[in-house]
Amino acid sequence: MLNFIIKRYNRFIKFNPILNSFGGRKFLQLIIENIYIFEALRRKKLKNKLLESPKFSIPEDNGFALYPPNTFETSESAVSEAEKIFNNQKDLLNSGSFKKTYLRELSLEGHLQKNSPLMNFALDPQILAMVSKYLGTLPILREIRMMYSPNEGAIEGGSQFFHVDKEYPRMMKIFLFITPSTDQDGPLTSLSAKNSESLWKKMGRLKAIHRISDEQVFNTFSKDATQSIIGEKGSVGFLDVARCLHFGSRPNSNSKSRLIVWFVYHHYCGDVFPFSLMAGKRYDFKEFAKDGDISDLNKSIILN
Ligand SMILES: [Fe+2]
Repeated sequence: MLNFIIKRYNRFIKFNPILNSFGGRKFLQLIIENIYIFEALRRKKLKNKLLESPKFSIPEDNGFALYPPNTFETSESAVSEAEKIFNNQKDLLNSGSFKKTYLRELSLEGHLQKNSPLMNFALDPQILAMVSKYLGTLPILREIRMMYSPNEGAIEGGSQFFHVDKEYPRMMKIFLFITPSTDQDGPLTSLSAKNSESLWKKMGRLKAIHRISDEQVFNTFSKDATQSIIGEKGSVGFLDVARCLHFGSRPNSNSKSRLIVWFVYHHYCGDVFPFSLMAGKRYDFKEFAKDGDISDLNKSIILN
C-alpha cells in the first residue's frame, strides 16, 4: 500500500505541469527565491566579500564550458587522488557486487575531509568564483560522486534520452576527467541552454516535460548543434544540467571505459525547492565538518 502511494506521488511530481513545465518551474523559482530573500542577500554579500573575480567563464547562452588540464591549480592532485581511490576499489567493480549498470558509483567515503584533494578542488576559489558568477549566488555544493562507465555496449537507461535534471531550474555540474574521453566513448552530449529553452518553449511553456525524443530535438536542430563533454585526463567540463537538454552513455563497440568525478552546485533554494524528487538526497559532508574550524564561506557552501 505504501509503495502504491509513493509510486502515485512520484508520478504526480514527474508529470505535474506546474512543477515540471518550463513556465511552472520558473514561477516556483521566483516565489521561493523571494521567500528566502534574506539568505540570498547574505550569500551575495559573502560572495562579494570573499570571492575573487573569475578568470574563466561559463557562457550564459551555452550553459556549457570545457577547460583543458591544469587550468585550475587544484585539479592535478584531485585527479591523482581519484586514481588512487579507483585503484583501491577496482576489484570490487568486477566482483559482481555492482549491478551491471552503465554508470557505477565508487564510494568516496574517507576522502572528503577538509583539505583533501577532492574537497580542495570542489572549494577551489576559482571554481567557486565561476560557478557563483554563473548561478548569481554563492551556491550550495549538492554532491560529489565518482562514476565509472564500463561502456560495455548498449544498456537501456533513463539518462540516455534527452532530459534536464530536475533538482532546480539552474544548476552547475562539473566533470573532472580522471581518464581521457572522446566522441567515440558515448560521452555526455548536450544542446546549448539557449536552444534547449527555445525547444522547451516551443513544446509549450506549461507542458510538463520528462524526456524528449531524439526526433523532437533533431527536427529543429542539427547534430552539429550538440556539444560533447569530452577531454584529456584532467580536463574540466561545466554543464548546466538543469537548463541544457542532455543525454549520456550511448557507447559503441569501440568505446573505452570512463572514470569521472562530478561536483554539483545549485542555489540555496535547491534544498527547499518544493516537490523536487531529489531535494532530500543532498550529500552530507559530515567528514568535512568533523574539523570544527571551517570558514564562513565553506560553511555556507557545504553545511547549510
Ligand atoms: Fe541528467
